[in-house]
Amino acid sequence: MSGQRHIENLALIGFMGTGKSSVGRLVASQLHFNFVDTDEWIERRARKAISRIFTEDGEAAFRLLESQLVAELGRLRRHVISTGGGLGANPVHMASLKKHALVACLWARPEAIWRRVRHATHRPLLREPDPLSRIRRLLEDRAPVYRLADVLINTEMRSVRDVTRQVVHQFRLARSEGKQR
Ligand code: S3P
Repeated sequence: MSGQRHIENLALIGFMGTGKSSVGRLVASQLHFNFVDTDEWIERRARKAISRIFTEDGEAAFRLLESQLVAELGRLRRHVISTGGGLGANPVHMASLKKHALVACLWARPEAIWRRVRHATHRPLLREPDPLSRIRRLLEDRAPVYRLADVLINTEMRSVRDVTRQVVHQFRLARSEGKQR
């Protein structure tokens, strides 16, 4: 597969609370790339917050918006794409992203994720009596696809700066290897 790839962009995938947006913004500024966040893009397009899309239209409608967006991302050049936690857990999305982007997955264990997200209220999938169990189940289901990413980076006990440094390094390495082929 790598022979047909053109790494024009960097895509950050991974579970909620792994720092995709914070890392993504910093990586974009270091690479002098544009930054795009798929959740923000969908909210702008749908003209409503993701929590409202889930309650008014249902999760399936949200996933459809994600798939439509993934198909359009291939047009981008020099972008860092930060994705919603479920987007990179779909194998079709993964294959599509890999055509134009290096895919880096930010990782953390369920307990660490829960510590990071428990005070936030905007995530519809965690509005339930036992969110930690929900995180465990979702992460287990998603892990086989997350692991297909080009790079897997553990974010536990690491600062946003440190994770950013690793992502930038991996991206530069992948681009220079691509040029040598
Ligand atoms: C989701 C993660 C959210 C958002 C939506 C669904 C998921 O994005 O896309 O609430 O399925 O894990 P973040 O990962 O940015 O929180």
